[in-house]
Amino acid sequence: MKAIGLSRYLPVENSESLQDFELAKPEAVDHDLLVKVKAISVNPVDTKVRAPKEQFEGPPRILGWDGAGEVVAVGQQVEHFSVGDQVYYAGDITRSGSNCEFQLVDERIVGTKPASLSFAEAAALPLTSITAWEALFERLQISAQGDDAGKLILIIGGAGGVGSIAIQLAKKLSKLNVIATASRPESQQWCLDRGADNVVNHRQSLDDELTAIDKPLVDYILCLNSTDQHWSAMAKAIKPQGKICSIVDTSKVDLSLLKSKSASFIWEFMFTRSMYKTPDMIEQQRLLNKVSELIDNGVLVTTVNTLLQPINAENLRKAHKMIEQGNAIGKLVLSDWV
Ligand SMILES: NC(=O)c1ccc[n+]([C@@H]2O[C@H](COP(=O)([O-])OP(=O)(O)OC[C@H]3O[C@@H](n4cnc5c(N)ncnc54)[C@H](OP(=O)(O)O)[C@@H]3O)[C@@H](O)[C@H]2O)c1
Repeated sequence: MKAIGLSRYLPVENSESLQDFELAKPEAVDHDLLVKVKAISVNPVDTKVRAPKEQFEGPPRILGWDGAGEVVAVGQQVEHFSVGDQVYYAGDITRSGSNCEFQLVDERIVGTKPASLSFAEAAALPLTSITAWEALFERLQISAQGDDAGKLILIIGGAGGVGSIAIQLAKKLSKLNVIATASRPESQQWCLDRGADNVVNHRQSLDDELTAIDKPLVDYILCLNSTDQHWSAMAKAIKPQGKICSIVDTSKVDLSLLKSKSASFIWEFMFTRSMYKTPDMIEQQRLLNKVSELIDNGVLVTTVNTLLQPINAENLRKAHKMIEQGNAIGKLVLSDWV
């Protein structure tokens, strides 16, 4: 099968940073599906894993943690899928990724692809939808049924891959009052088009920006970018007893800033369930199926914004380079092998 992988960890400008390989097709056992991959998307995690370092791989390492395709074989313990099913999934960071023609993935973290979307449109969604869903409804414990309607949420990094779906979930399902951050006219407009009520600029003082729209305090904060940079502004903006969730590493947040407000801080890491094989890992299958239904019912829309064809090392290097620039709007997808 065709695959794109790396043997060395090199800057993306180096043509050996991601290369085309021909590898043996894997075999499905246990809970695994063997999926014929039709489209993939690229996330910042791909570029972080590929980042230059002195490390070498024997068999090439295959990255990619978003895929959409068709099931071509199933392991003996598979219960929910059959050959021919169209699926979408993010996969497991501890396993080989989606940048190959045939990928093994545990059925418990796979959803049925939205019927109304192409494979490319579907591949944009899994990793970011799982992240946004778990962050909003499980970590921040916001009602997905509208019981928290009207409460204020600040989504930092609103136009990126995760923000593009988080804004929709917070607005359409939870009926929150959504303030997103974006720094450029086109990323600001993207947030408004996804349903944000206000957009403020994360390159300015967030405190001043929130005060200017008369919303200096918020019930929830979802931080999707630069946790350290925004920490003191978040601590100031969170209401007493409010909740902050971050998905981005930090080296130095001072939790004591939250003490007088009895505010909470919680992490979201979308690979936790697959990495630790938690007993509830099938929740990711359920939430992907719910996202599928919401897409097919017209409640949510895909977040794809850029499509590169075909799937090969040259286009994947291009995609990594774009993601590394840190100013993506929506999702970047590659589709079709030649
Ligand atoms: N923990 C998890 O499970 C998890 C899951 C998914 C992603 N992540 C991490 O979350 C981060 C975001 O992922 P993503 O896919 O949304 O990334 P992305 O699509 O690459 O995000 C791009 C967006 O980031 C915004 N941005 C750039 N600098 C910013 C800053 N200093 N403050 C606020 N926003 C800024 C940009 O807005 P402007 O162009 O308008 O400035 C741009 O629209 C990445 O670090 C990723 O690795 C973690």
